[in-house]
Amino acid sequence: MNIDTTVESALAEIAAADTEATLRDLEVGLLGKKGTITELTRLIGAAPPAERGPIGKAINVAKATVTQALEARKVALVQGAIARELADTTFDVSVPGARPDLGSFHPLTLVQERLEDIFTAMGFMVLDYGEVETDFMNFEALNIPKHHPARDMQDTFWTKDGHVLRTHTSPGQIRAMKQFAPPFRAAFPGKVFRNEALDASHEHTFHQLEGLFVDRVVSVAGLISTMKIMLSQVFEREVTVRLRPGYFPFVEPGFELDMQCLLCGGAGCRVCKHSGWVETLGCGLVHPNVLRHAGLDPAEWQAWAFGMGLSRLVMMRYGIDDIRHVLGGDLRFLQQFA
Ligand code: DAH
Repeated sequence: MNIDTTVESALAEIAAADTEATLRDLEVGLLGKKGTITELTRLIGAAPPAERGPIGKAINVAKATVTQALEARKVALVQGAIARELADTTFDVSVPGARPDLGSFHPLTLVQERLEDIFTAMGFMVLDYGEVETDFMNFEALNIPKHHPARDMQDTFWTKDGHVLRTHTSPGQIRAMKQFAPPFRAAFPGKVFRNEALDASHEHTFHQLEGLFVDRVVSVAGLISTMKIMLSQVFEREVTVRLRPGYFPFVEPGFELDMQCLLCGGAGCRVCKHSGWVETLGCGLVHPNVLRHAGLDPAEWQAWAFGMGLSRLVMMRYGIDDIRHVLGGDLRFLQQFA
């Protein structure tokens, strides 16, 4: 064993190691328990006592030299790997990123907001009342007492504690009359709920917009012309309407207002069920009992009201011939409104 040649060949091996793994193995082979450099200590025992000191020192120098060479080689290998990676990878900071999909408003929202603008322009407040109602607000105050057959017109979801998911936006009438001093005009858009079997034309959740006009004297003529103006503004063209008598306990007289189908121009199509007309809204003069329940004296105040579903308006406005598209949530359908 010779210290100088051992160190020399160790340094040559270290210089030749070209991966970190080889270098790690080499380190064990040199400085490990049975490593070539470690084994050099045997020379101490074999030497005459006078030479042991200088040999020991020389071995320490050899160890330090090899350790340093290992360290330096390790650093060089790591730097080399980084440099190669940088050279191989191209990164163009000027390439535009992937465009995220943009959301859009639902056609129901678009129509509702348009209606809110139209009614605001006509001096109506736009109010938002809750979706969970008391039996009183949803029925009793609207002249639909318990056991009245009219309750069967709207199948109701009840909560365990006896509240209802509002079956229509009409309870807003009572709340508004209790909240504001007449005369006033108010519109209440919102979701309503009915416990109905789902089919092509029925949903358990749908959207309505209710309107209420309270003054000393109101007229059916004023009601109908307001409806006509409102519909013409929604559709941005002249709309033909017709009136039929309709029964709603909270109005007297009550009407069903139909509009001529805009998709077929009255000739008959899927949306108007081939009749040329589309049932659009219910309306009438507010029943004296309703005014009384809301705390107004019917001898002093009169009111008209209307309520309409928004799905049909959406269908007519955007030429959609199947109601299931409106609430189906299919993105391919909704993306058309982006
Ligand atoms: N609440 C009725 C429904 O959901 C719609 C309605 C009819 C509202 C006549 C009114 C009205 O304000 O006057 O079927």
